[in-house]
Amino acid sequence: MTLLELKNVTKEYPLRRRRGQLKKKAAVNNVSFTIAKGESVALVGESGSGKSTLAKLIMKMEKLTSGQILWNGHNIHSKQLNALTLYKNIQMVLQDSSSSLHPRMRVEEILLEPIHNFFPDKKNDVEECLKLLHLVGLDASYMKRSPNQLSGGQKQRVCIAKALAVQPELIIFDESIASLDRYSQVSILEMLKRIQKQVGPSYLFITHDLESAIQLCDRAAVMYQGEIVETFTHWERELLRHPYSKLLFDTMDFDHKEGKVAAI
Ligand SMILES: Nc1ncnc2c1ncn2[C@@H]1O[C@H](COP(=O)(O)OP(=O)(O)OP(=O)(O)O)[C@@H](O)[C@H]1O
Ligand SMILES: [Mg+2]
Repeated sequence: MTLLELKNVTKEYPLRRRRGQLKKKAAVNNVSFTIAKGESVALVGESGSGKSTLAKLIMKMEKLTSGQILWNGHNIHSKQLNALTLYKNIQMVLQDSSSSLHPRMRVEEILLEPIHNFFPDKKNDVEECLKLLHLVGLDASYMKRSPNQLSGGQKQRVCIAKALAVQPELIIFDESIASLDRYSQVSILEMLKRIQKQVGPSYLFITHDLESAIQLCDRAAVMYQGEIVETFTHWERELLRHPYSKLLFDTMDFDHKEGKVAAI
């Protein structure tokens, strides 16, 4: 079942030139793709290729220039779909965990906030916090800690727990593990795979790191200069057509480059 569908999505930003002439630049250019229920899709691309802009368009944080974004067949950018409904269905985890966590709040309060906002009738809310922490690999002792008493990896786990608290159908990760060391990255990717099996959200995993994308995702789309230039289910250099995808693949230094491949 298709949850999210992007149809010919374009976002142009105005560029001011000399002599007052106003030109436009497409940060996202005619992008189409879908995410099915329970699927994990990676969006891979170099800096400035339009990945975050695309995420912002899905979260209605930016206006579309043209195209459509549908959630369960409903237009996300229509006035009928309000922000609360959108955030109940789609959550986003950013790269900078510190900016996502209030420095004066304890982990327990951070997790209680979305529970109270989205499930006001929920009893046993503290138990729910413990469950969420357990899901992201942290024990009860973290409940009373504030963000400055957590490592970068632990902060990101709390951000993921906060997103999960809403019980969303889709989570967008925008370079969420990019600033962590490789060991923490691998352990969070394994955790995300386990969470997907246990709880079942779909993922849109935005990254410049092809290795992480392959580790986590069923499918990957390569974004280059605002466009999706290729989409794959598995990876093999011979089947990559776009020079940028080939370059990405060649610069990987990991050991699962083999595997059955189907370009789609
Ligand atoms: N508000 C804005 N006004 C004008 N241009 C913008 C705006 N936001 C983004 N851009 C431009 O759109 C392009 C795509 O930016 P975007 O942040 O989506 O890239 P990205 O792929 O997420 O990069 P990174 O990997 O570095 O996060 C860039 O050229 C950027 O300068
Ligand atoms: Mg970005």
